Amino acid sequence: MKKNPIAMPVNTAGGPLKGIRGQIVTFTDDPFLNPSDQCYLYIEDGLIVVQDGIILDVADYASIKDKYPTLDNIDHYTNSVIMPGFVDCHVHYVQSPMIGSFGDTLLQWLNEYTFPTEAKYKDKVFADEVAKMFFKQILQQGTTTANVFSTTFATSVDAFFEESERYNTRMITGKVFQDRNLPDSLKDESAEESVEIAESLLKKWHNRGRQIYSVIPRFAPTSTERQLMLAGELYQRHLDEGVIMHTHLNESVGEIAWVTQLFPNIDNYTDVYKEYGLIDRKSLLAHSCLMKEEEWQTLHMAQCGCAHCPSSNLFLGDGEFKVWEAKDPQRPVRVGMGTDVGGGTNFSIPRQLNEAYKVSMLKRKNMSAIHSYYLATRGGAEALHLEHSIGSLAPGYEADIAVLDLNPSEFVEWRMKFTESIMDKLFVLQTLALDNMNMATYVAGNKVYDRERKDKPFMYANEFIK
Ligand code: GUN
Ligand code: ZN
Repeated sequence: MKKNPIAMPVNTAGGPLKGIRGQIVTFTDDPFLNPSDQCYLYIEDGLIVVQDGIILDVADYASIKDKYPTLDNIDHYTNSVIMPGFVDCHVHYVQSPMIGSFGDTLLQWLNEYTFPTEAKYKDKVFADEVAKMFFKQILQQGTTTANVFSTTFATSVDAFFEESERYNTRMITGKVFQDRNLPDSLKDESAEESVEIAESLLKKWHNRGRQIYSVIPRFAPTSTERQLMLAGELYQRHLDEGVIMHTHLNESVGEIAWVTQLFPNIDNYTDVYKEYGLIDRKSLLAHSCLMKEEEWQTLHMAQCGCAHCPSSNLFLGDGEFKVWEAKDPQRPVRVGMGTDVGGGTNFSIPRQLNEAYKVSMLKRKNMSAIHSYYLATRGGAEALHLEHSIGSLAPGYEADIAVLDLNPSEFVEWRMKFTESIMDKLFVLQTLALDNMNMATYVAGNKVYDRERKDKPFMYANEFIK
C-alpha cells in the first residue's frame, strides 16, 4: 500500500469546512503496470476535509482532527467505503428510454431501436425529461463524471449540460456528427452545418463551470469523409483548450467489415480516424474490442483512452475488450470503464466490474479488486486525461465522492463476516453487485444523493446554499 497520495496545488476561496469520515480507498498508480499493492492508499479511519468543493486534506482522522478546530460539520460513515466518484467513460444518455430492448447484432439493434429513439430529441421537453432521469440514475450509482453521447440535435446537448450545471457535476458531451447511413430524421443536413452547430455549442458550454465539450463522430460508417475531416479540424482547433474527441471503434465484426468496405484504401479502422485528425491525446475510443497490434500502437503513441464496456459487449454479443492486451507494458493504453447504456444493461460502474472480471476470466486471466476499482476511478480519469482534477481523493482534487455500503443487504452483511481485507470486501461487493450499494454521492463537496434522505434523495447544488 502506497503511503503518499498524489497531491495537487490547493486553491480555495476560504469557505466553510466540511468533513467526511470513515474507511477510505483511493488509487495512486496504475496496478496493471506497477506492483498492485503499491497502487492504492487505504485509511481505516480517515478524514477528508473539503472546502469550496475542493479536497484540502485526506489523512488518518486521529492525526489531523486537531489541525481543523473549527471543523464540526462531519458526515461519519461506518460499515462503508469512501471512494472517488466513479467515472463512466462511455454512455449514451439519450438511449435511457430504450435500455433493455430485445436485440440482435449491433447494426440491427441500432436501426430498430436506437435511431428511432434518438430522432425524438429535437423536442427539448423530451430531452429535459430524459436528462433528469439519467442524472438520477448515475448519481444514485455513485458516478460523478461521465463521457456522454448526446445526439444530432443541439437541444440534446443543452438539456444535458443544463441538468449537469444544476448538480455542478463534471460532465462531458457534445453534438453527435452523423450525416449518412441513418434515417433522415436523425441525419445532419450537411457536414458544414453540423460543424457550425457544434462549434457554437462548444463556445457556449466548454469550460462553463465544470462542463467539458466533446467532438463526437458517432462512428466512421455514419459520417461522410467530408464530415470526418471537418470534425477532425474542429477537434484540432480546440484540443489545447481541453476539448475531447469521443467515438466508437472496433466493436463488432459486422461493423469492421462495413468500415473496410467504406474506406478500402485505409489499413485499419483506427487509421480511418487518424487520417482525419481524430486520433490525438484527448481521444476516447469506446469498445476497442477487436484490435490489431498496430492499432494498439497508434493509441499508445497518441496517448488515447479506451472505454471497456463489458455489459454492452455481452448484451450485443460483440467482441470482448482484452484489458491485459491493452495494458501490455511495452505499449500500455489508458483504460476506463463504460456502461454504454443503452447497449449496456445498467448504469452502475461496479456492475461493469463484475462483468469485466468474467470477460477477463474467459481469457484465463483474473483481475483483482485493486485493478477493478482503479479502472472505475483513477483509470477512467486517466483515459479522459482528467487525472489531475478528478478520480482520486487527495489534496487539490475536486471533491467528487461515492460512499459504498458494505452491508447493502442482510446476506451481504453476513457474507462480509467471512472476508478479511478491504480488497476482499470490495471484490464481494462488485461480484454481488447490488443495485442499492451506493449510500451517498458527493459532487464538489455537496451530498447531491443520499439514500437515507428518504423525502429528498437528490438535491441540486443551489439547494446547499444557505
Ligand atoms: N456504434 C455506433 N453507434 C453505436 C451505439 O449507439 N451503441 C453502440 N454500442 N455502438 C455503436
Ligand atoms: Zn456506445
